[in-house]
Amino acid sequence: MNYVLEAIEITKRFPGVLANDRICLNVKAGEVLGLIGENGAGKSTLLKVLNGIYPHGTYTGTLRLNGEEIRPMNPNDAMHLGIGYVPQEINVLKYFSVAENIYMSDLHLARVKDRASRSPFVDFKGMYAATEKLLRDNHIQLDPRADVRKLSIGQQQMLMIARALATNPKVLILDEPTTSLSSEDVDQLFRVVRKLKERGTSIIFVTHKLAEILELTDRVTILRDGRNISTFEKAEYDTGRIIHDMIGRDLQHMYPPRNVKIGEEVLRVEHLTVAHPYIANKNLIEDVSFTVHAGEVLGMAGLVGAGRSEVCMAIYGMAPIKSGKVFINGREVRLGTTERAVKNGLNLVSEDRKIYGLNFVWDIKTNIGISNLGEVSAGPFVSEGKLRERARRYFESLRIKAPSISTKVNTLSGGNQQKVVIARSLNTQPRIIILDEPTKGIDVGSKNDIYNIINDMAADGVAVIMISSELPELMGMSDRYLVMAEGRVAGELSGEEGNDARIMELAVSTFK
Ligand SMILES: Nc1ncnc2c1ncn2[C@@H]1O[C@H](COP(=O)(O)OP(=O)(O)OP(=O)(O)O)[C@@H](O)[C@H]1O
Ligand SMILES: [Mg+2]
Repeated sequence: MNYVLEAIEITKRFPGVLANDRICLNVKAGEVLGLIGENGAGKSTLLKVLNGIYPHGTYTGTLRLNGEEIRPMNPNDAMHLGIGYVPQEINVLKYFSVAENIYMSDLHLARVKDRASRSPFVDFKGMYAATEKLLRDNHIQLDPRADVRKLSIGQQQMLMIARALATNPKVLILDEPTTSLSSEDVDQLFRVVRKLKERGTSIIFVTHKLAEILELTDRVTILRDGRNISTFEKAEYDTGRIIHDMIGRDLQHMYPPRNVKIGEEVLRVEHLTVAHPYIANKNLIEDVSFTVHAGEVLGMAGLVGAGRSEVCMAIYGMAPIKSGKVFINGREVRLGTTERAVKNGLNLVSEDRKIYGLNFVWDIKTNIGISNLGEVSAGPFVSEGKLRERARRYFESLRIKAPSISTKVNTLSGGNQQKVVIARSLNTQPRIIILDEPTKGIDVGSKNDIYNIINDMAADGVAVIMISSELPELMGMSDRYLVMAEGRVAGELSGEEGNDARIMELAVSTFK
C-alpha cells in the first residue's frame, strides 16, 4: 500500500505522561482519515509530532512521506514538506487583516516579495489579490481585507484553514476544527474538505462528534491512553463499536434518564435588556423573560449569535444590564457583578475557557479551589489539605486525565482543561448553574459523565440552564426549551413539544 504520510511507532513522553506509546498512523492520497479518542488519548501530541512542533529527536519512531523518511525540526520544515496544520486552539493575529494573517509568516508565498529584487517592501495589492484567489479556489467565504477582530470564531477557524492551504499542502491536519463552529460553518468546512479530497489532498481530521466521522471520513483510527486501539474502513463503521474502542466500555444511555420532581421557581428574569457594547441606541438583548425551577434543566436553543450567552453573562454580572429585573427564590436581587451572583448561589461555566475560564499558570487544584476559598480556608489561611481534598473529588468524578491535581493546566489536553472549568463552577455548590456549551471539546464518555453530574445536580434541586449548539444534546437533557433569535425570545417549548423542526423554526425567527 502506498501511503502519503506514515507515522511508525511514535513514542512521546512528557514528565509523568506517556502521551504516545508506539502509535502508528498512515494516510493515503485523497483520503479523509478520522482520528478519534478520549480527552488526553494523545491525538494532538501525535499531530504535533507530524507537524514538527515536537522536533525530530524529542520522540522516538519514524515519519515517512511518500515512502521517504522525513525529520521535521519545526513547523516550517513540515510546511515545506507539504504538511499543513491547523491547531486545536484558535490562533490568529488580531489587529491584522485576513490577508496579512495568511501571508504573514511567509510573504514569498503570495509572491508579494520578490526574492530576486530583495525589495524590502510588501506589495499589498498583490497580497490581497493572492488572498482573493486562494479563498475563491477553496470556496472559503471571507473578505481578504476584513479586520480579524470582527470575525466570528467560525470565520477565524476558516481563516486558519485558509492559512494552512496557502502553502498548498499534500496532507492537511485539522485538529478539532468543528468544536466552535455553527452548523452552517461546518457545512462550509465539509465542502472545502471534499474539494481538497477531489484534488488528491489527504486530510487528517480530529473530532469528538461521531456524526462527523460517519459523514466525512473514509477511515478512522482510534487511540486510547496513548495507544492504537483499532482502525476501521468506512464500510465497517459501527457506532457502538467505535465508542467501545474509544472509551473501553459500552455506553448504555448517552443521555441518562432523569427522574426528578420539578420544584419551586428559583430564577425569574423579567424584561431583560442589554445595550449593544459598541453601537449606540441598539440593544444586544431585548425584553427577555423566562423562569427556571428547582430540579429543572432549561435548554436554551438558538443559532450562534442569537444572544444566549449574552443573556447569561448579563445575569452573571459579566455584562451591564440596561433594564429588567432578576428574582431569585421570589426576591428581587441586584446582581451586576460576578461576586454578587456567586453570593446569590449563581454560577456560570463560560464557553470561552481561554478568556474567562482558567489561570493557565496555576495547577489543577488551585484553579478549582479558587472559586470557593471560604470552603478551604481557616481564617486568613488556605488549608492545603482541604484544597486537595475538594479538588480530588472533582478530579475523580470528572475523570480529569493528568498525573495529579498539582499538574499545571497549560499542559492538559483541550478537553481536560474544559473539565477543570466545569469543576471550578461545581465547587461553588451553586443553586443555579448556567452551562454555556459545557461539552465543547469533550469526548463521548466524559460527556456522559457530565450529563450524569447535571442529573445529580437537578436531583439536588439545582436549577440548570444549558446552552448548547448540539441539538441532540439539548433535546437529550432539557425539560423545557427557551428558543432565542436576534437577541429576543422567539418562543418557549415544553419537553414534549420540543423537536428539531419546531426548535429550528423558532431559531430562525426575525423581528425586524
Ligand atoms: N506540553 C505538555 N506537557 C506535559 N504533558 C502534556 C503536554 N501536552 C500534552 N500532555 C499530556 O499528554 C497527554 C495527551 O494529550 P493530547 O493533548 O495529545 O490529548 P488529546 O487526545 O489531543 O485530547 P483532547 O481530545 O482533550 O484534545 C495528556 O495526558 C496531556 O496532559
Ligand atoms: Mg487535542
